[in-house]
Amino acid sequence: MDRFQCPNCQQPLVQQDRTLRCSAGHSFDLARQGYVNLLPSHHRRSNSPGDSLDMISARARFLNRDFYLGLSVAVSDLLMSALKSGPGEGDSGRCVVDVGCGEGYFTESLVPDPRVDIYGLDISKPAIVAACRRQRKLNLAVANATRLPLADNSFEAVTVLMAPFPEGAVRVLRQHGHLLRVSPGPRHLAEVKPYLFAVAREHQRAGLAYPGLTHRVAHRVTLEMILDADAISSLVAMTPIRYRSRLPVSGGTIPASLAVTADFWVDLFEKR
Ligand SMILES: C[S@@+](CC[C@H](N)C(=O)[O-])C[C@H]1O[C@@H](n2cnc3c(N)ncnc32)[C@H](O)[C@@H]1O
Ligand SMILES: [Zn+2]
Repeated sequence: MDRFQCPNCQQPLVQQDRTLRCSAGHSFDLARQGYVNLLPSHHRRSNSPGDSLDMISARARFLNRDFYLGLSVAVSDLLMSALKSGPGEGDSGRCVVDVGCGEGYFTESLVPDPRVDIYGLDISKPAIVAACRRQRKLNLAVANATRLPLADNSFEAVTVLMAPFPEGAVRVLRQHGHLLRVSPGPRHLAEVKPYLFAVAREHQRAGLAYPGLTHRVAHRVTLEMILDADAISSLVAMTPIRYRSRLPVSGGTIPASLAVTADFWVDLFEKR
């Protein structure tokens, strides 16, 4: 947990027993499940920010059936090759952080090398609690992607999978470190969209120009899935309500089985 920094004063946090402390006297206890909450109340807009427990449980139900396994493998392969070509091992080992990690399905399989330390952050407490349950070896924190409580120049890679782009990513990356981003492709969930969204638009390609980062690789991952009623209802429940149709979406309207495309852009950037 030594790459976390104090969200109040940006000093390094040092672990003593089950508490992380900075030199200014701020302290953060490890929760019973093993994560640390680095989201001070003045850094959040609501009492329960991010995905709700219902959305997180639905996401876990859907992902645990491995519909997105092809994406997980593609992300891990690209990340492993980026780590090989990246800055190399520093004095204190290599670290990767997954920002907006959700319940940790992708996080736990990011790097199959046990020597690489994996961090995961999410603004949703239920997401981080679920990620702890999935994999105890992860270094997990409740935190806001817009104020990364992570040390400068200390990560070989930052991953951002279908989550808000972290503004401090360049600061926390080592030079020539990589940022791997997954964002929806134009055909993503095209067949379910008419049932989910008030207006079914194609996803726009996320931007490729970020100060301090050079875009290196663009991969498109397209998966064809046959979804049953359970999978469809999980997919509906894991979609933020603000994106859903105002019309009631009932099991009756969506067919009991549907061929659905999952379509993603996987983009790799390098810190200049
Ligand atoms: C679509 S989910 C993706 C989760 C995970 N990366 C995956 O692919 O399974 C988006 C996640 O971003 C989190 N999130 C939203 N805003 C955030 C913020 N400002 N900081 C950190 N996490 C955030 C949500 O709580 C949610 O878990
Ligand atoms: Zn502090």
